[in-house]
Amino acid sequence: MKKIDLRSDTVTLPTRGMREAMANAEVGDDVFGEDPTVNRLETLAAEMTGKEKALFVASGTMANLICQMSHCTRGDEMILGDQSHIFIYEQGGSAAIGGIHSRTLANQKDGTLDLNEVESAIRGDNIHFPRSRLLVLENTHNRCNGSPLDPDYMAAASRLAKNHGLFLHVDGARIFNAAVCLRTGVKDLLKGVDSISFCLSKGLSAPVGSMVCGSSDFIQQARRVRKVLGGGMRQAGILAAAGIIALTQMVDRLEEDHEHARIFAEGIAEFDGIIINPDDIQTNIVFFDIDPIKILPAEAFVRKLEEKGVRIIQLGPCRLRAVTHRMIDRSDIDEALTAIKKVIES
Ligand SMILES: Cc1ncc(COP(=O)(O)O)c(C=O)c1O
Repeated sequence: MKKIDLRSDTVTLPTRGMREAMANAEVGDDVFGEDPTVNRLETLAAEMTGKEKALFVASGTMANLICQMSHCTRGDEMILGDQSHIFIYEQGGSAAIGGIHSRTLANQKDGTLDLNEVESAIRGDNIHFPRSRLLVLENTHNRCNGSPLDPDYMAAASRLAKNHGLFLHVDGARIFNAAVCLRTGVKDLLKGVDSISFCLSKGLSAPVGSMVCGSSDFIQQARRVRKVLGGGMRQAGILAAAGIIALTQMVDRLEEDHEHARIFAEGIAEFDGIIINPDDIQTNIVFFDIDPIKILPAEAFVRKLEEKGVRIIQLGPCRLRAVTHRMIDRSDIDEALTAIKKVIES
C-alpha cells in the first residue's frame, strides 16, 4: 500500500539531481576550509540571507545551539517563546551544554512574542540577575500553525533588541516557507537579525544539513563552537552538493506545499469533531484537534489512519499535526481526506 506520509517535511527524499550532484561533488577537508562545494554552499547561503558569512552544520538543533553559544556566555539569559522548538524539542541543550538560562514568554497564536512583554522581561544590571543577552524568534513558527512572522514585526523586534543591547537570533528552520508565503525576500525578513539558522533538509528536500548565517566575526566564533560540539566535518561537500540544489531549485515550489496544506485544512474542517480554523493555515503545517467523544481518542485515530496508509503525528492529548511537502501531491491530499472520512465514519 502506498504511504501518504504527512508526519513532517523531514521525510522528503533527495531528488535525482541531488543524488547526481552528490556523486559528482568536488570535495576536500572542510575542517581545513578546503572543501570547494561546502565553500560554494556557504557563499550562496550568505548571499541569499543577506549576511556576510555562513556555516554548514549537521542539523537544525546543532545550528540553534551553535548560535546560542556563540552569542552567550555561561549564565547569560535568552528570551524565547514557550512554544519554540528550541525550548520544547532541543533537549534543553541551551542549559545542559551552553549554560544558558531560558526566560520563556507566551507565544501568541501567530507565533510572535508580545514585544511589550519582551521589553519588560529584559533585566537591568543587578548582581542578582543573569544578564539578558539574546532574543530568539522562530519563523515560520512550527507549533503555532507554521505561521510566518512578517518583515514589520521582525524589524520591530530587531529594534527592540538593539535598543537594549541584545542579540537577535532567528530559528528559521523554515524561513523560505515564510518568505514564499509572505511574497517577500528572505533578506527582508532578516535585515536586523544577528544570526539565522535554517534547514536544508525539511521542505527543501536535502538529505542532511542546516546553515548558520551572520557577520564574519559571528561565523568565526560559530565555527569554533561547531568544532567543540563535534560538528567539524571532513569531505562534507558530498552533502553540501545536495544543499546547493535545495537552495537553487527547491524554494519556489514551496508554494505548492502551502496550497496543499490549505486544501487539506479546508477539507478536514468539514468533518464534525475536527477542530480547526483553516484561515490559520498559511504555510505547510496543519495543526488540528480531535474531539475524542465525537470521533476517537487521538492515539486510536492516528493508528486507524495509518492502517489506511496515511501517517500524521500526535503532539498533544487531542492535538494532531499534518505537514505537506514535495512528496505529497494533490491526489495524495484527496486520498488522505477520503481516508480520514472513512475512519470517522467507521
Ligand atoms: C522550528 C524548528 N527548528 C529547529 C528544528 C530542528 O531541526 P533538526 O531536526 O534538523 O535538528 C526543527 C525540526 O523540526 C524545527 O521545526
